[in-house]
Amino acid sequence: MKQKDIYILGIESSCDDTSAAIIHNGKVLSNIIANQEVHAKYGGVVPELASRAHQQNIVPVVQQAIERAGITKEQLSAIAFTRGPGLMGSLLVGTSFAKSLAVGLNIPLIDVNHMQAHILAHFIKEENAKIPPFPFICLTISGGHTQIVKIENYFDMEVLGETIDDAVGEAFDKSAKILGLPYPGGPLIDKYAQQGNPKAYPFTQPKVGDLEFSFSGLKTQILYFIQKNVKENPNFITENLNDICASIQHTIVEILVKKLKNTVKQTGIKHIAIAGGVSANSEIRKRLITAEKHWGWTTYIPKFEYTTDNAAMIAIAGYLKYLDNDYSDISVAAKARLKVTE
Ligand code: KG4
Ligand code: ZN
Repeated sequence: MKQKDIYILGIESSCDDTSAAIIHNGKVLSNIIANQEVHAKYGGVVPELASRAHQQNIVPVVQQAIERAGITKEQLSAIAFTRGPGLMGSLLVGTSFAKSLAVGLNIPLIDVNHMQAHILAHFIKEENAKIPPFPFICLTISGGHTQIVKIENYFDMEVLGETIDDAVGEAFDKSAKILGLPYPGGPLIDKYAQQGNPKAYPFTQPKVGDLEFSFSGLKTQILYFIQKNVKENPNFITENLNDICASIQHTIVEILVKKLKNTVKQTGIKHIAIAGGVSANSEIRKRLITAEKHWGWTTYIPKFEYTTDNAAMIAIAGYLKYLDNDYSDISVAAKARLKVTE
């Protein structure tokens, strides 16, 4: 029997990227992302400006996603959107747009949890993609979250450990800010680190529980280290940028890998995935590849375009819910705080 054609439009607007994607039976046909340059000069996302930019971007971004997919909006089976977590003003733009389009087309509306979607991006059907079997462990590392999650099934997740203060993306971005780099600094630290010596400046790791993370102490350590050295040599940062970035990145990745080792030891699960914006980091990706050889893990590294915020991950989560007839009521409301288990 021929499989029914299921087309899902995914809409993501939780932070500072407006994105829309079309998924056909689990495969991505289009994934359009409009980044908001406006925040770079402020050193972080300005919620009011983010919301306004989403309003400007959402119509053309959705239109492009449908065009690029080569379908018409009448072919859509359902509309999936990010309900939370995220910035309220940003979430509201995607939520109300998704609702009106679903009502206009008379098709189901499906709300998606952004954190679940980062993890479920691993189920996008791609050529040669490795799909993790249940149960598996996912290290979710983004600008707002740092969690070790056990995934029993698509929507059956348990948080085994998380950060007690800053998220790992914040650790990258705040360190970058101390170095005078623009927001978001994570990808820039990664770039400069490629040419640097990761052992140049040893930073100490925090002492917290086996599956817990803490990054605020590291940030303070880096701040004092930079202040002290700049006092002695005003050109310290520019003269040593590559080594400083490599050392910061190395310390952070060491922490992440150590926590994953603890998780494997505690759970016995050796199927290890990473997800979220920081999973774009080249060093964590390299370390997971070598973990297959050294420790017998099977690791799952998302395709680069599905690491940072994107609507393909929202659409795949929506597709999986659609298969379960798990639709939302039109009264569903955006939620700024939402746990990965909600
Ligand atoms: O998942 P995401 O796009 O948004 C949130 O939901 O937070 O993650 C954004 C975070 C930012 O902190 C950004 O600096 C970080 O991901 N990031 C990176 C890299 N690419 C993005 N951090 C380190 N290395 C990278 N290559
Ligand atoms: Zn995200």
